Amino acid sequence: MAVSESEVFPDVPPLHWSDELASGDARMDETHREFVEQLAALRALPVQQQLEPYRALIAHTEEHFAREERWMVAVGFAADNCHAHHHREILDMMRAVERHYLDGDHDIIARMAAALAEWFPMHAQTMDAGLAQHMRAVGFDSRTETLADPSRVRPATMTGCGSVHCS
Ligand SMILES: [Fe+2]
Ligand SMILES: [Fe+2]
Repeated sequence: MAVSESEVFPDVPPLHWSDELASGDARMDETHREFVEQLAALRALPVQQQLEPYRALIAHTEEHFAREERWMVAVGFAADNCHAHHHREILDMMRAVERHYLDGDHDIIARMAAALAEWFPMHAQTMDAGLAQHMRAVGFDSRTETLADPSRVRPATMTGCGSVHCS
């Protein structure tokens, strides 16, 4: 019988969407909800069936992070700010996990998925919520990716993570 991830890692409960995860930006939250749903579906599968949905999660995360990084630049962050740097670290880890799975470590996607279920709420509630708050403050529309008044933003002037600390 196949062993499911939840049996291997019972200590990290499934992550479900809730208002606690909401950033205050509806466009951002659409993507976050998709992430949470894809992650939950992945974790419910036996490890032998996790590779393709994991690859789909990586592709979704690449778009998710790239979108947020476009927004950061549009609202005045330097491209190499700490939120973007953190995204790169997460994606590098996710890609490394795919390679290890292919090398024969068939539990590693399940372990990474459990780690992501622990990581995501913290990221959404700090770095992403900070970005959403800053987008609102400068009048940035995340659907059209436009500023109501471009004169309110000085390009590439911020290197932090918005209203929150990075560490
Ligand atoms: Fe995000
Ligand atoms: Fe983010």
